[in-house]
Amino acid sequence: MESAFRYWAVVPAAGVGKRMQADRPKQYLPLGGKTVIEQTVSRLLAAGVFSKVAVAISGEDPYWPELALAAHPGVLTAPGGKERADSVLSALLALSDEAGEQDWVLVHDAARPCLTVADIHLLIDTLREDAVGGILALSSHDTLKQVKGGMIEASVDRRVIWRALTPQMFRYGMLRDALQRTAGDLAVTDEASALELLGLQPKIVEGRPDNIKITRPEDLALAEFYLERQA
Ligand code: CTP
Ligand code: MG
Repeated sequence: MESAFRYWAVVPAAGVGKRMQADRPKQYLPLGGKTVIEQTVSRLLAAGVFSKVAVAISGEDPYWPELALAAHPGVLTAPGGKERADSVLSALLALSDEAGEQDWVLVHDAARPCLTVADIHLLIDTLREDAVGGILALSSHDTLKQVKGGMIEASVDRRVIWRALTPQMFRYGMLRDALQRTAGDLAVTDEASALELLGLQPKIVEGRPDNIKITRPEDLALAEFYLERQA
């Protein structure tokens, strides 16, 4: 049975891409004939499940208004914030007239253009009946070391360590409240950590390893390779 709750996508895209060291924020670098952010948002639109995609954009961003995507009827622009969490909260608040408290929100980094429609549906299908929600994540293949001052203190059981990806899927009202209550806490680097701080336990859903975040210059070539392989 189809659930009565709607789905919204939130895309934080107000970062400057410092580690990328490019002449513009990394979401506007060319990738596969479009910009990175166009690749990302087109994946979300292609999923066909979102009532709207809310994109958080910096007030000093001259690139976004130039894209046709900015005028797409399924896309809403919200002001970005100081930290990623501030941008996400701003986009959530921009949806407040339309979104219901129990609706689902999938937050996805603009800098992850290789997300597949299959992973979007996997996350939704796994968590749609869940009370809290959860995130796409990757298990660790390498042996992991706990290090202090350049010296190994211990090996860490890799079965208990997962790498957090996006999308991260939570109830609209619960996520907004969690981000408001943890506002200013620099430990909140993703949505799940805001809920964790309130004592909740988000679930993990194993995602695809090609859902990389473009962070450093070499990542762009890797994303290009993954997109070609997916096509
Ligand atoms: N982001 C945002 N608002 C901020 C900071 C980041 O919306 N104040 C977004 C970025 O645009 C990106 C996502 O959050 O899509 C993940 O952040 P990250 O990879 O760290 O991007 P940047 O902060 O732009 O890069 P850097 O940390 O290297 O400066
Ligand atoms: Mg950053």
